[in-house]
Amino acid sequence: MPTADHKTAETQHDISELIRRRWSPRAFSGQPITEEELQALFEAASWAASSFNEQPWQYLYAHRSDEAGFLRLLSCLKPGNQAWAKNAAVLVLSSASTVFSKNGKANRHALHDTGAANAHLLLEATRRNIYGHAMAGFDYDKTVQEFGLNEPVVPVCFLALGYLGNPEQLEEPLRSSEQKPRQRQPVDSFTQKIQ
Ligand SMILES: Cc1cc2nc3c(=O)[nH]c(=O)nc-3n(C[C@H](O)[C@H](O)[C@H](O)COP(=O)(O)O)c2cc1C
Repeated sequence: MPTADHKTAETQHDISELIRRRWSPRAFSGQPITEEELQALFEAASWAASSFNEQPWQYLYAHRSDEAGFLRLLSCLKPGNQAWAKNAAVLVLSSASTVFSKNGKANRHALHDTGAANAHLLLEATRRNIYGHAMAGFDYDKTVQEFGLNEPVVPVCFLALGYLGNPEQLEEPLRSSEQKPRQRQPVDSFTQKIQ
């Protein structure tokens, strides 16, 4: 199985190995993900914290072997994402219900909490040598129509999931990007201690 040690984060501080190892590949091998493993990833998502424990996230998904469903999801992506996401083992659409179920009031943190659930999903995936790539590059209106999403449910982002493939299968500039080390802003550039 290909590894991607060059993608493991070089960090300023001692942080979890899973966080250091997670990254967003575009080259996926053809290896499928079992339904059981996928359900474990969704359970990991469900253990994210959420405002009032509302759990506003919803997931639609298809394995690549489920051709019709997979193509419905794939067709909603922007062409640049379709080019590589077509090789994912599973495509997922994460959506959020933006009102609280108990009183119908607006849940201003629904997208935040769905993002947190996605992060949990991706970290559990990393533990299993499965990698995921979030995508905001999708046709919003087409997605809403294709899957009959109605307010207050809104699409958040797609996820491509799979085992690592060979970067050589990608066209430039994606191939080079796949081989570059990951970078982040230093912690003191986005934090400020208040006195
Ligand atoms: C909400 C969200 C939307 C993203 N949309 C896209 C996208 O449409 N296409 C793409 O190639 N990458 C997309 N990315 C991946 C980011 O570019 C990537 O996470 C970032 O460059 C950091 O790289 P890393 O995840 O490997 O650490 C998205 C990531 C997130 C979290």
